Amino acid sequence: MASRSDENGRERIVQANPPDDGAETGAGGRSLEDQALEIAAQNRSSVESESRMSQDLRPREFREYVGQKPVVDSISIAVMASRQRGDTLDHALFHGPPGLGKTTIAHIIARELDSQLIHTSGPALERPADVVGLLSNLKAGDVLFIDEIHRLSHAVEEYLYSAMEDFRVDFMTGSGAFAKSINLPLQPFTLIGSTTRAGMLSAPLRERFGLAYHLDFYSTEELAQVVTRSSGILKVEIDKDGALEIAKRSRGTPRISNRLLRRVRDFSEVRHDGRVNQSIASVALEIEGVDSLGLDRLDRLYLTTLSKNYNGGPAGIQALAATINEDQQTLEDVVEPFLLKIGFIVRTPQGRRTTLEGFEHLGLPPRLNGPAGQGTLL
Ligand SMILES: Nc1ncnc2c1ncn2[C@@H]1O[C@H](COP(=O)(O)OP(=O)(O)OP(=O)(O)O)[C@@H](O)[C@H]1O
Ligand SMILES: [Mg+2]
Repeated sequence: MASRSDENGRERIVQANPPDDGAETGAGGRSLEDQALEIAAQNRSSVESESRMSQDLRPREFREYVGQKPVVDSISIAVMASRQRGDTLDHALFHGPPGLGKTTIAHIIARELDSQLIHTSGPALERPADVVGLLSNLKAGDVLFIDEIHRLSHAVEEYLYSAMEDFRVDFMTGSGAFAKSINLPLQPFTLIGSTTRAGMLSAPLRERFGLAYHLDFYSTEELAQVVTRSSGILKVEIDKDGALEIAKRSRGTPRISNRLLRRVRDFSEVRHDGRVNQSIASVALEIEGVDSLGLDRLDRLYLTTLSKNYNGGPAGIQALAATINEDQQTLEDVVEPFLLKIGFIVRTPQGRRTTLEGFEHLGLPPRLNGPAGQGTLL
């Protein structure tokens, strides 16, 4: 099991490495139970190393968590109520584009519940033994956080159904004449799922979450608060307009605000006196290839390809991904949500199209040839 952290403080437990014996039971004489126990131990130790990782800029309490007011209001009431009743919190699902604070809010919930957070991800729970091991090791009230929950395998997902609903798992051990069914009771726990793709969750899994929230992009004012808060922690001297300039170019995303703040700080330390104002922020971010609306090189490449190569569309996502030579999922998860949000593209049954505003931003004349072109004016 390994864990990594990128420069934005985003952490993720990557693939657990259970023994690759290729079979559920019997291989090498090791039962599913043995494998499950071993994996549980691996998961525990990675959780411990996870919690030692620096979480510098991550808000630790609801009152530090900027924006997303309806979500914070609702979840904090649910947390308070469950604390008062001495109950476990209902399972909760957070969905929305990357970097908007899903992992952060899961950590806050666990902290407010005084619970331990066990952090794993859909791709790490590859086999049923992985999830049985993890679940059987949970203590009462623990918060199990599954990042990228849409990437759970179907087999693993099935174990979660009874675990979430009845706090038990049923599994088979042994084979042939020695096969027996084991019904394992679990301690009551809270599952928090996070996904950028709510649509890819199966209906049975989605229905088992008592609480489900969509996180939306942040306003410029909210992001300016994020920048100001982070500047305080990083000890960067920044004025109000400097913070606003970074906020405006952050694509509605706090993770990007924090990344851009670090780049601007570097620039100011090397070329100026370390302090940040509006003009320093804007020069630094131009150098970074971030334009006045926060579009980066990949956003502009996507928009230019759709607008020039495909005459503003309609174009299918696969064709666009192939032309740009970029992963389709990255385009769908990272690039498109913001371009849709600011109205530079639209999604139609025929494919993606550039809007009038999108053409204008690129300084291109809108293509209005035929019915497809009309669609670009939506
Ligand atoms: N509401 C917020 N207030 C202040 N800072 C925030 C907020 N939300 C997120 N951040 C900052 O943005 C960073 C990224 O947030 P987080 O890791 O929670 O995003 P995420 O939604 O889990 O992203 P992903 O889908 O990529 O896992 C955090 O480390 C934190 O510093
Ligand atoms: Mg996350």
